[in-house]
Amino acid sequence: MAESAVVVEDLRRTYGSGASAVHALRGVSFAVPRGELVALKGRSGSGKTTLLNLVGGLDTPDAGKITVEGLDLAELGEDGLLELRRDRVGFIFQSFGLIPILTAAENVGVPLRLRKTDPRAREERVALLLALVGLADHAEQRPGELSGGQQQRVAIARALANKPSLLIADEPTGQLDAETGLAVMELLRAVVRGEGVTALVATHDAGLLDLADRVLELSDGGIVER
Ligand SMILES: Nc1ncnc2c1ncn2[C@@H]1O[C@H](COP(=O)(O)OP(=O)(O)O)[C@@H](O)[C@H]1O
Ligand SMILES: [Mg+2]
Repeated sequence: MAESAVVVEDLRRTYGSGASAVHALRGVSFAVPRGELVALKGRSGSGKTTLLNLVGGLDTPDAGKITVEGLDLAELGEDGLLELRRDRVGFIFQSFGLIPILTAAENVGVPLRLRKTDPRAREERVALLLALVGLADHAEQRPGELSGGQQQRVAIARALANKPSLLIADEPTGQLDAETGLAVMELLRAVVRGEGVTALVATHDAGLLDLADRVLELSDGGIVER
């Protein structure tokens, strides 16, 4: 098998304890081959967000192992996890997560500012990314002046700013109508092919699953064998 971008082994995550404990993940194992778009489906509450947060280093598991691009997340420590989130992973959320007072271009440039990229190089990369997502003509508009689909395109451009190897998208089309959602998913599909990134995308929209290279299904905290 081609080298994996992500390997997850027997992952467990429980929220709370005692009688009120919620076993969000009960021993999940899978691998995401490099350069693929893998969809993670499952109804609300099945553990998708919990799993994505763990793979992206936003949360730590109770047991099990996560490897991202060959790095064992358990060995990274706080600083290492911060670097992972900043340099290797691009996050895309259902609610876009853009900063309202910044323009589209400024939002895309935020991760580059955090890395203290030279302003000239930053502007060039921002322009390239806005063109890539089809928003070259909307660079100066603020999120409130853009449609939902356009806002999510800005968020995708921002997620790509630091040339991550892995995109993690949590129901990126959840706030969009079917047609706009399909267009956003097609953009992700094109980005994975064109930019050579790997993507792990949670969705419960069955219409989007055809675009994935493979589909993992979560049910009640476990992977459903298909
Ligand atoms: N911070 C939390 N505290 C307690 N329970 C949580 C928390 N986050 C998620 N859960 C529970 O864990 C389960 C999985 O949730 P989640 O990963 O958000 O699923 P999904 O993203 O598939 O809807 C659900 O039962 C949810 O209520
Ligand atoms: Mg969720």
